[in-house]
Amino acid sequence: MKRMASAPATNEPAAAPTARSVIVRFAAGTLVAIAIAVVGGYFVLRAVAIDEAKRQTRDRVKEEAQLVEGAVSDGLLQGRGRAVRKVDDVVVARVLSDSIVRVKIWSPRGRVLYSDEPAEIGGRYALGDEEQQLLRNGGADVEVTDLSRPENALDRQQGRLLEAYTRIRTPSGKLLLFEIYQRFGSVTADARRLLGALAPPILGAIGLILLIQVPLFWSLMRRLQVSHEQREGLLANAVTSSRRERRRVASYLHDGPVQELAGLAFSLAPVADDAASRGAEREATVVRTVIDRLRGTVRDLRALLVDLHPPTLASAGLDAALRDLVSPLSARGTNVELRVDGDERLDPDTQALVYRVAQEAVRNVIGYADASNVSVEVGVVDSTACLLVADDGRGFGPETREQRRAEGHLGLSLVEELAQQAGGSLDVDSSKGAGTRVRLEVPLR
Ligand SMILES: Nc1ncnc2c1ncn2[C@@H]1O[C@H](COP(=O)(O)OP(=O)(O)OP(=O)(O)O)[C@@H](O)[C@H]1O
Ligand SMILES: [Mg+2]
Repeated sequence: MKRMASAPATNEPAAAPTARSVIVRFAAGTLVAIAIAVVGGYFVLRAVAIDEAKRQTRDRVKEEAQLVEGAVSDGLLQGRGRAVRKVDDVVVARVLSDSIVRVKIWSPRGRVLYSDEPAEIGGRYALGDEEQQLLRNGGADVEVTDLSRPENALDRQQGRLLEAYTRIRTPSGKLLLFEIYQRFGSVTADARRLLGALAPPILGAIGLILLIQVPLFWSLMRRLQVSHEQREGLLANAVTSSRRERRRVASYLHDGPVQELAGLAFSLAPVADDAASRGAEREATVVRTVIDRLRGTVRDLRALLVDLHPPTLASAGLDAALRDLVSPLSARGTNVELRVDGDERLDPDTQALVYRVAQEAVRNVIGYADASNVSVEVGVVDSTACLLVADDGRGFGPETREQRRAEGHLGLSLVEELAQQAGGSLDVDSSKGAGTRVRLEVPLR
């Protein structure tokens, strides 16, 4: 069988959100946003600091290159000791520092002519395209050192480095590549320092804005709560007054038209008998027809009374009210099984809900099912009140219900809503030719 229209069992009557919970959520959201801003800000500032450091290093390599160029002789190309020492004197005395940790000079073919780390001198590595281009065109370039490259094997213990290079000339005009390595640690320290300087005023400003907003928020919340409570109150009022109105109409019908019509039918009976005894058959038949019509109308009105205000529910209990409800089915010859257990554990509202759902389901069975067997069961399982109305009639598919709903026939949908409002659920389980099962579950109160 296909399952239809299952209602989630979550809908308690909507509770007003408390100001505290909204403020806690608001504050938590704000803290997360601040955390994201701080982490994001750190990376942005770090990128800015790296760019700035690159710019400074590019300027610096040009200055240092001018300084060293004065000490470079053509002998360096042949690897002469004197020429190397002359460069080394300048580098050690004036270039190396806490931040510049390595200086190298390369021949255009990729030989290390000088390094302040003597073990690197004489090493040969292919120069990249950028270095070649720089040798041809001049200028300066900076990049983050790739410490995995073989030419940087001896630079690894320095940690992350920025490398910058530019070209220099020997006295005879030969072009060489001059390279310095700068510690990267100072760059991240710069970013942290910048963040440290910027964070307190920014966080302070955010905190101040929050502080100003909280009372505003609080008063808005209070207003929201008050209007929510008013709406709930109005709704409850509307429900009560509709119930009161139904009771009033029911009692008017019961005491007025129903008694009147029943009395009329009663008083007309001797008139018919009298006419018959006089041999006025035509007259007697007319009066009997009127009496039948009157009785039929009284029956209809009584059924309407039960709809409007099921009196037996309050006076005789759920069992008796359900018995009344299914009696038209038995009267038509349908086999009806009614079982009611534990109904004394149901509070009046739940009893009314169970009755209301059973009423809709039984009415539908009478109207559409053409069933041979119908069972109505009420019971309590694990603090949940259950009602099951099952028939073996013709059943229906989802499209039938959709179509009826579109035409304004909302019987099942309305009781579904009532069940949800009570924190319970209603399952309607049916398909063509396979009968129908309507199951209500409501938590006990
Ligand atoms: N027990 C049943 N057996 C067969 N068909 C059913 C049964 N219950 C409901 N239906 C089908 O589902 C449709 C929708 O039922 P629902 O109670 O929502 O509306 P309705 O009975 O048509 O109108 P209303 O209840 O508003 O008077 C019905 O028109 C009928 O076709
Ligand atoms: Mg219906």
